[in-house]
Amino acid sequence: VDFHELEKAGWSERGVVEAYERAIIRLTTQSVEPLLEAAGVGRGTRLLDLATGLGQTAAAAAARGAAVTGLDFSPAMIERARALHPGIDFVEGDAQALPFPDGSFDAVVSNFGMLHFADPDRALAEAFRVLRRPGVVAFTVWSPAAVGLGIAQSAAAEHGDAGAARLPPGPAFFRFSDAAEAARTLTQIGFVECDSTEIRQRWRLASMDDLLRALAEGTVRNRALLRSQPAAARAMIENAIRAALLPYRTVEGGLEIPMPAVLSRARR
Ligand SMILES: C[S@@+](CC[C@H](N)C(=O)[O-])C[C@H]1O[C@@H](n2cnc3c(N)ncnc32)[C@H](O)[C@@H]1O
Repeated sequence: VDFHELEKAGWSERGVVEAYERAIIRLTTQSVEPLLEAAGVGRGTRLLDLATGLGQTAAAAAARGAAVTGLDFSPAMIERARALHPGIDFVEGDAQALPFPDGSFDAVVSNFGMLHFADPDRALAEAFRVLRRPGVVAFTVWSPAAVGLGIAQSAAAEHGDAGAARLPPGPAFFRFSDAAEAARTLTQIGFVECDSTEIRQRWRLASMDDLLRALAEGTVRNRALLRSQPAAARAMIENAIRAALLPYRTVEGGLEIPMPAVLSRARR
């Protein structure tokens, strides 16, 4: 399988969708209002939400009076989004080949979608095409300072079984966290007035076990990585993750992990 297939198969599993809803949207929802603000979403805005997932960005935009379409390539995500937010238009499709005519939207946003696209330049070019002029594109990605993220990868690199199944290489995870790289890419596509800001976010979990479960069940790359490991190596990786997260334990025994995001915006 290539990266696109790994992502699509993973996000299409019901168990992943359930774990995402249980442990991860509490985190990704934190950047929704800043994202909509950056995109100037208000009454009557025709908005496309790329990689909508469970649709919480789309729902918040609808609450602002926008005419919103949420798009995702996972049938299981779309099904759950429709159940959670009846009345919002959710479409199954690929962000890299949008099923909309040129100039259909005033704004295109994506909350933590960009790092999942095999070809993010293509997705941005598609966003450009479906935007009218003037239109706005805005998206969030993780900052390299987001503690909960690289943690499984670095633990696996240190303690993993090197002979375990190799994952297909994906796009650079932190490429769009770099404001200069984001601006360079957006400018090349034809966008103007690019800027990026950091958003502070915290991931609160009731226990270390909840964190390990969230990584192993509610994400795609980490889940594939952990599953590829034999039991003994996986136990060592999990212990290393627990140790690395000790500084983020709360007095109640839960976790509060800094997970800053980078929000970029540009105009067509
Ligand atoms: C990390 S989730 C983000 C979901 C949501 N925006 C949020 O803020 O919680 C990534 C989403 O991207 C979707 N996705 C990944 N690649 C995609 C693609 N090429 N086209 C459409 N959706 C995609 C996945 O199905 C998944 O729902």
